[in-house]
Amino acid sequence: MNVYGLIGNPVGHSLSPPMHEAGYEALGIDAKYVTFEPPADEGAAAVEAAEKLGVAGLNVTIPFKQDVLAAVDPDPLAQRIGAVNTVDFSGETPRGYNTDAVGAVRALDHHGVELSGTTVVVGAGGAGRAVAFGLADEGMAVRIANRTESKAVDLAADVPEASGHGLDELAELLADADVLVNCTSVGMDEDATPVPAEALHGDLAVLDAVYSPIETRLLRDAAAAGATTVDGAWMLLYQGVEAFERWTGEDAPVDSMNAALRAGL
Ligand code: ATR
Repeated sequence: MNVYGLIGNPVGHSLSPPMHEAGYEALGIDAKYVTFEPPADEGAAAVEAAEKLGVAGLNVTIPFKQDVLAAVDPDPLAQRIGAVNTVDFSGETPRGYNTDAVGAVRALDHHGVELSGTTVVVGAGGAGRAVAFGLADEGMAVRIANRTESKAVDLAADVPEASGHGLDELAELLADADVLVNCTSVGMDEDATPVPAEALHGDLAVLDAVYSPIETRLLRDAAAAGATTVDGAWMLLYQGVEAFERWTGEDAPVDSMNAALRAGL
């Protein structure tokens, strides 16, 4: 039996175990998915320990995504993002990936969103960084808008075809944008939005990385404006699907994993 898992601190409310185990069950794979909560400064040591214990694969979440880089051989995208959320132990050395970036791309793709033109990424933290690289790699021009404008400018300097802005420029940026992704925590457990409703329009596809609540104010405003909406559970699902496929080499049973994830929300 293969053991997969998640390291994070805290990991208490993770939806990854039911999501991945639904995938194993659907494909008849003999595996378990468990959560581990190492001390906050022991991310790299936890990866080394997991390798010694014969763990087959690890997901990595806050606060370990940067620290574990030291314990893995990162693929080029994870290296450029500077963060790892998936470790595969099947090779000679642990290989690190960032499936958050691909998760956003696949979530949009699932909804038929064409990934060309211009995308506005709101937020320049860890999620914003991964999404900006993911969409830039699809060939989109990336406009990063952040409350602290200097962080958006710094991030944009690392991402191809990107520019950094303050939130005051959002309406102007969105006027001719094709895709909007909220990568701030605004809207999490609150009825708030980082984007003025008047700036939204029917030619946009809007992905909100926030998944609690599942229908955020931003997504309600976007639907009212006639935009295509993609909730944050799709991004969570597809980062897991991508990890599942890296580990098992099989096409993930997306519908089963999605149902298990949404049942836990
Ligand atoms: P994560 O790793 O999930 O991206 P993070 O690194 O803490 O989390 O980043 C949080 C993001 O949400 C940042 O872009 C932050 O903006 P600042 O860089 O200015 O702090 C943004 N954010 C958090 N609260 C916000 C608020 N009330 N209004 C606007 N942006 C906010």
